[in-house]
Amino acid sequence: MLEGRRILVTGGSRGIGAVTVETLVREGATVALHYGRSREAALRIAERLGPRVVAIGEDLERPGAGRRLWERVVEELRWVDGVVLNAAVVRAVPLFDDDDEGWDRSWDATLQVNLKAAADLARAALAHFLKRQQGVVVAIASRAAFRGDDPEMLSYAASKAGLVALTRSIARAYAREGVRAYVVAPGFVETEMAAQSLGDPAVRARVVAEIPIGELARPEDVAEVTAFLLSGRAPHLTGATLDINGASYIR
Ligand SMILES: NC(=O)c1ccc[n+]([C@@H]2O[C@H](COP(=O)([O-])OP(=O)(O)OC[C@H]3O[C@@H](n4cnc5c(N)ncnc54)[C@H](O)[C@@H]3O)[C@@H](O)[C@H]2O)c1
Repeated sequence: MLEGRRILVTGGSRGIGAVTVETLVREGATVALHYGRSREAALRIAERLGPRVVAIGEDLERPGAGRRLWERVVEELRWVDGVVLNAAVVRAVPLFDDDDEGWDRSWDATLQVNLKAAADLARAALAHFLKRQQGVVVAIASRAAFRGDDPEMLSYAASKAGLVALTRSIARAYAREGVRAYVVAPGFVETEMAAQSLGDPAVRARVVAEIPIGELARPEDVAEVTAFLLSGRAPHLTGATLDINGASYIR
């Protein structure tokens, strides 16, 4: 489905990103696997998947990292057909504990990684895509952007809503120039990020009980949808949001 395509996946060293890298490579793509602090894990995946994967590190919490990452990706791949904006952090913080510094740190890091770095990267990618009159952006957002989240997750939910607006705006603005942009909005997916919130078995049981399909999604669910969107098989879907939440939130 993706023979000859060159794709950047951010946050590709674990979770949904790692499974996405593997899926895209299996479908024939060459992939720039971006990682933050987990160099070892990224290199292990790259080695396992072979010469069509190149690992590139950049801490997206640092200002300008999205731009630097793009430069390095183009150096390595020469051209890029698609970008998966997957990297994100959850920095849960109590709403009313009077720790203003903790609150500020949560918002700064979350907005920087989940939204600003994604915007910097999308901006650089768009300049490249417009020259080539083609390119696909897939933004991994969240059900939280639409349904809302718990009070300690306000920064996360808000960052994902920002990512949705960014992606929709790209879809509208550049459709005539061959650019496609899609939002993928998972509910809970079985990864380390979900484990962070679902450590308490009672919380996990409550969350699962709210999902009609009766279990968390697998990273493969997200990866398969992403691969399809990158394939260019459904160009008129551009601007759409693909919900992957076991019918727990139907819009
Ligand atoms: N797991 C879920 O339940 C769930 C639900 C909805 C949406 N999502 C979204 O799916 C995407 C992947 O999530 P996941 O569950 O695989 O999470 P994860 O925590 O396993 O992976 C997140 C990835 O982002 C990278 N990352 C985080 N901070 C970074 C930084 N400062 N610099 C560079 N890279 C950084 C991590 O290295 C990691 O590879 C995220 O955008 C997340 O918001 C996940």
